[in-house]
Amino acid sequence: MAKDDSQDKKPPVDTKKLTMIILAAGKGTRMKSPLPKVLHPVAGRPMIEKVIDASKKAGVSDLRLIVGHGQKLVRSVVEPMGVICFAQEHQLGTADAVRSAQIETIEGDVVIMNGDHPLIEAEDIQKFVKVFRDEKCDLAVVTAVVKKPDAFGRIVRHMGQIKAIVEAKDASADTLKIKEINTGIYIVKAEVLAEYLPQIKNHNAKNEFYITDLISLCLEDQCKVMPIKASAKVAVGVNTQSELAKATKLLFLRKARRLMEEGVLIIDPNATYIEESVQVGPGSVIYPNVFLKGRTKIGSFTVIEPQVFMSDAEIGDSVQIRAGTYIEQTIVQAKASVGPYARLRPETNIGEEAHVGNFVEMKKVSFGKKSKAGHLTYLGDAEIGEDVNIGCGTITCNYAADRKKYKTKIGNRVFVGSDTQFVAPIEVGDDAVIGSGSTITKNVPASALAVARAKQFVKENYTSKVSELKKEE
Ligand code: UD1
Ligand code: CA
Repeated sequence: MAKDDSQDKKPPVDTKKLTMIILAAGKGTRMKSPLPKVLHPVAGRPMIEKVIDASKKAGVSDLRLIVGHGQKLVRSVVEPMGVICFAQEHQLGTADAVRSAQIETIEGDVVIMNGDHPLIEAEDIQKFVKVFRDEKCDLAVVTAVVKKPDAFGRIVRHMGQIKAIVEAKDASADTLKIKEINTGIYIVKAEVLAEYLPQIKNHNAKNEFYITDLISLCLEDQCKVMPIKASAKVAVGVNTQSELAKATKLLFLRKARRLMEEGVLIIDPNATYIEESVQVGPGSVIYPNVFLKGRTKIGSFTVIEPQVFMSDAEIGDSVQIRAGTYIEQTIVQAKASVGPYARLRPETNIGEEAHVGNFVEMKKVSFGKKSKAGHLTYLGDAEIGEDVNIGCGTITCNYAADRKKYKTKIGNRVFVGSDTQFVAPIEVGDDAVIGSGSTITKNVPASALAVARAKQFVKENYTSKVSELKKEE
């Protein structure tokens, strides 16, 4: 059906229609894992999400994902991303997978891509499409020269011109020496695809229908077929667990390099694990073995010491996060310091210049400006004002025998002595003082002193009397 392109608000690479077919139906036998290959996480996210994101950002107008093996699971991940899935019933090879995309309904240009190349970026795809269009190609294949071509399909050239792609399994010893390989990315005119795809046969070592045979079929009919050389990173495919680890490493390294270019101090980029989605401000320092995940956002001049794990955290400017700290869905405001060995659980908000020290756990806590909880403390479901001192060993008893959670509210400038328990629900007014060792079960008004512990009992000369008794025995 003819489509009025003028109605498209966001133009893709150019105004011509661009369809992307991503192949993700294979079993991933070499992964030796029960998880479908494309769901294996690369630098924190399923690899298929990376490929889909890159395609969307490249301005693809129609995205079709081929699913098969483990499709229920794959769909549960990609359909919420708005991706339309097409099922390939039997995994009869990459050409058969493309056939499942209902290619007769496609117009314009088509990018075909393997779902197991997670290092691909939108700019790469845009560049390939531009070359394909500028050179008025019928078919283009993206190639790369690599040191170890291993299992990749080899690009066979004659007098510099591409002739065919030969799969490693079907290649002669001489062909195997070729270092230029097929990255598994093809760009083809929809009508060319519709004409030659049905002609592909499965006469090869695996008895599969190879999409790579499109090249020789198109060449036989004098179509314009062009190899487009790309950087080696585009060739990083994932077929085994060790390739998965390599891809992850490269992605973390790429993120570290980008942050360094933006002025972030990274002590050892090889031991830094920052996901692509994370933001870090200039002048901040990241020590080794730090994991920053998801929507984590870190301000400027903030220091993150070793062995810190953060997921969806929002950390302000000039904050100190000391070694061994674990933070999830928490806000830490400017100039605060946290850790070493603190645990901040979801829905916690640490105020400006506040201090959370070692072995302190908080969950669902708002902790006011300049307040301090220096040591060995559990605060849960609590609202704590400004300039409060929480003594060592303080516990909010928020979970009651009725299996419900109750709140502790502490006003401004309250001084909580060490080893205090607040039995929630409980409220303490501004400027109150709680004596050490208290179990607070009743509300404390503003400016009051509350002490709730057994009175001290003293018996003089106790030890000498005990020894006399022993002698008599
Ligand atoms: C393929 C290419 C090879 C290239 C390499 C790049 C073919 C025949 N070979 O080999 O030239 O160098 O990629 O990484 O295309 N898939 C399906 N349905 C199937 C089979 C595969 O959807 O029936 C999907 C897989 O899920 C995967 C992609 O296609 O995402 C590639 O399949 P894979 O088996 O990994 O191909 P390679 O052997 O790597
Ligand atoms: Ca592969």
